[in-house]
Parts: sequence; structure tokens; C-alpha cells
Amino acid sequence: MKAFPTSFLWGGAIAANQVEGAWREDGKGLSTSDVQPKGVFGEVVERVEGDSALKDVAIDFYHRYPQDIALFAEMGFSCLRVSIAWTRIFPNGDESTPNEAGLAFYDRMFDELAKHGITPLVTLSHYEMPWGLVTAYGGWGNRKTIEFFEHYARTVFTRYASKVKLWLTFNEINMSLHAPLTGVGLAENSSKGDVYQAIHHQLVASALAVKACHEIVADGKIGNMLLGGLMYPLTCKPEDVLEALQQNRSWQFFGDVQCRGVYPGYMLRYFRDNGIAIEITDADREALKSTVDFISFSYYMSGCVTTNEELNQKARGNILSMVQNPHLQSSEWGWQIDPLGLRTLLNMLWDRWQKPLFIVENGLGAKDKVEADGSINDDYRIAYLNDHLLQMREAIDDGVEMMGYTSWGPIDLVSASKAEMSKRYGFIYVDRDDDGNGTLARSRKKSFYWYRDVIASNGESLK
Ligand code: BG6
Repeated sequence: MKAFPTSFLWGGAIAANQVEGAWREDGKGLSTSDVQPKGVFGEVVERVEGDSALKDVAIDFYHRYPQDIALFAEMGFSCLRVSIAWTRIFPNGDESTPNEAGLAFYDRMFDELAKHGITPLVTLSHYEMPWGLVTAYGGWGNRKTIEFFEHYARTVFTRYASKVKLWLTFNEINMSLHAPLTGVGLAENSSKGDVYQAIHHQLVASALAVKACHEIVADGKIGNMLLGGLMYPLTCKPEDVLEALQQNRSWQFFGDVQCRGVYPGYMLRYFRDNGIAIEITDADREALKSTVDFISFSYYMSGCVTTNEELNQKARGNILSMVQNPHLQSSEWGWQIDPLGLRTLLNMLWDRWQKPLFIVENGLGAKDKVEADGSINDDYRIAYLNDHLLQMREAIDDGVEMMGYTSWGPIDLVSASKAEMSKRYGFIYVDRDDDGNGTLARSRKKSFYWYRDVIASNGESLK
């Protein structure tokens, strides 16, 4: 019978800047997320005394984490993916001494998880970095940022070595190609060469964090995190097939470096063909040899690519400029729903890297309706997740080695792309709207009970 391994980790994933709020509390510094109140594709705004943004409070997880973790435990979570806000630990990024109040917050949170037997999976940097490193150093464009990051990583590995055994380096490291400010702290109109140089620095930093984790955290495991941007050729025209290969490589490249420890030949050719000269030192080459223990990725949708310029024109402006697949339905936000694509992707990544895989984000962003009696019947969310989990089980049956699954936003949170509350992913509803109105009260949706049953039966209840 098809089944999930008994060691399989089930849970959900959240990110500091989308849940915590408390943006200036206990010594926290300003992050790139704080200066982009309208999300990762939004403008940079100077924050002034007395202004406000949705993420400043978010869902107030900073103060409400004990109740929220209790709700996750009620669903039977064995794992919770969280991120540490770098600016809580090093407010400007370049301090030598960490902010004790920030460290103490995560101590309390990890203790709360331990109380419920929930394993933390911790991302070092999820879509945010200290704004101070951007303004004073030019973000990841500057080599010095590697040192600051390594110092931060070593600080948190040392502090939480006994509490956190599973780590991730950079969230969706390949997103820097589409959102340079969020990814690498560079202006949106930066040249390709500058973006790839900054990415190189981040890849080196990621490898140095892998090395540090292995040195400091006994029995620790550390993975990378990719946006699983599966692309199909729109037609079987050989040019479209080659285009799909290239587009898939544009994000698989990050995984190739993080899993194999060297730049792949196709990327060196891409740099040559585009007149991009990356400074790679001998020390960088040595550092890159520290490769990840496992691969984690997000999966929400798939897309198509083609060499037909007319169709491409139309696709510009879509997330990742993908052409619509005529065989798939879309979410309210135009993301194309493709459960079978998840099986394809899992097999593709397993064949390519032969390292254990962890799906650390997947889910449906949708508007929810609260009925008069307070119930929320989110059958659409249940259907989406059910179909993806079934394909994950198929992939396991195909021989893919998997560590676990954390759905995105198990509790409603502020969306990343446009900083909306109304794009909800949760099993737990949070009473707050796009303008910040609401009590922040939590309530269980229909999917809450459905996911609880999935976890309790280790996937056997899936239909
Ligand atoms: C991933 C990010 O890109 O997608 C998350 O890692 C994000 O931070 C998620 O929230 C869903 O995107 P959005 O824009 O719907 O929040």
C-alpha cells in the first residue's frame, strides 16, 4: 500500500516578517521587509514616526505564539517551519554583539514548541535582511555582507544548538532574480551582472553557514530553499523544449551550486554569452564545497514557456513571466493549480540531486467567507491540499526520499507579494483585514479538522 514513512514530519510554515509584528519591539532593527510595506514587489518607503503598515503588527505572533503553537499542536503538527528575523539579533546587521532581547524571544518560542513535541525547522533569512546593511554597505553586492551573515548564523547556531537541529539558509534563494531588493538588497533596476555577483556572495554565505552548522550543531542538518518554479514547454516544438530546459535551469542552478559545490557549465556559458564577469575567489571555491544535507522547496503552481514572442509579451507582468497552461485552472490570484506537477517536480529534483527532499511551502491563497455562525467552509483549500498530498505520496512510491511537508501559512498571515491579509492560506482564521481592522482573534476553519485527520492517519485519510 502507498504510504508516508513513519518518520515523516507534518506541519506548517511561517516567516517572521509575515506573522510576528512587533516591528520595533525589544531592540529590533529595520529590515528590508519593513521598508516595503506593500510587499516584495512594492516600492521602498521611508518609514517615519507615527506611520503604520500591515506588517508592523502582522498577526501579532510575537505576543500570541503560545496560543498559536497550542493550535498547531491540536492539529498534531510534528514540525513548524519558522524564520528568525536577522534584525532582532543584529538590528543593523554589522554589530559584533547580538541583541539579547531578540535571542531570548526565540528561546521562548523554541521552548514552547518543545513543550508540544514540535520540531522546529528554522530559516536563517526569509525575505528580509537588515536595512542597515543595504544603506551602509549595498546589501549582498558587498562581500562584507558574507561576514556579517556568517557571524549572525554562528551566533544563532551556538545559542540554539540544543533546541534546533533542522536549519535552512535562504528562503527561495532564486527569487533574487525577480525581486532583487528582497533577495539581495539591490535596487530593482540593477544590472544582471550586479545581481549575479550579489547572488554569488549569498551562495558563498549559504555554504559557510552549512559548514558552521556542521561544526556547531551536534546532529544538525541544514538544507537550502528553492522556489520550485516548474516550467513546461508550451508546445513540443524543439525550440520550446530547449527554452523550458533553460528556464528550469535558471532556478535549478542555485540548487546545483548548493548540492554539488561548483558552478555548472551551462551557467558559465550563460555568463560568457551575456558579458557577465563574476568575481569568484579561490576562497569562495573552497567555501562552496560545503554542500547541503537536504533540499527544501516551495511549490504552488507550474507555468509554461515558449519561444513565441507574441505569447511572451502577454505573459510579462505575470509572476515569473509564465505563459498560461490551457489544461489548468487558476487560483483567484492567477496561480495555476497543478498537483500532478508536484509529482513531476519531486521526481525531477530527486533524480538530479539524490538528496532528501522537504516540501516547506505549498498551499492555496484564497478569500474566505465567515458564515453567520462563525464557521468557515474552505472546501477549495481542502481540495487543493488533498490533491497535492496525494501526488506527494505517488512520488514517494516512485522512490523519492522525503523528509516532510509543511504547508504554507497554517495560520492566516500577511501575504509576501502584495502584503495582503485577504489572501489567506490558513487552517486557522485570523480576524484582520487589508486595512488592519479586526480583533486578531483566531478561529478554526473546516480545513483545520481535515488536516488534523490527515496527520493523525499519516496521510491515510486522503481521498
Ligand atoms: C513564497 C514565500 O514565495 O510564497 C512566502 O516564501 C510567501 O513568504 C508565499 O508568502 C506565498 O506568496 P504570497 O504572495 O501569496 O504570500
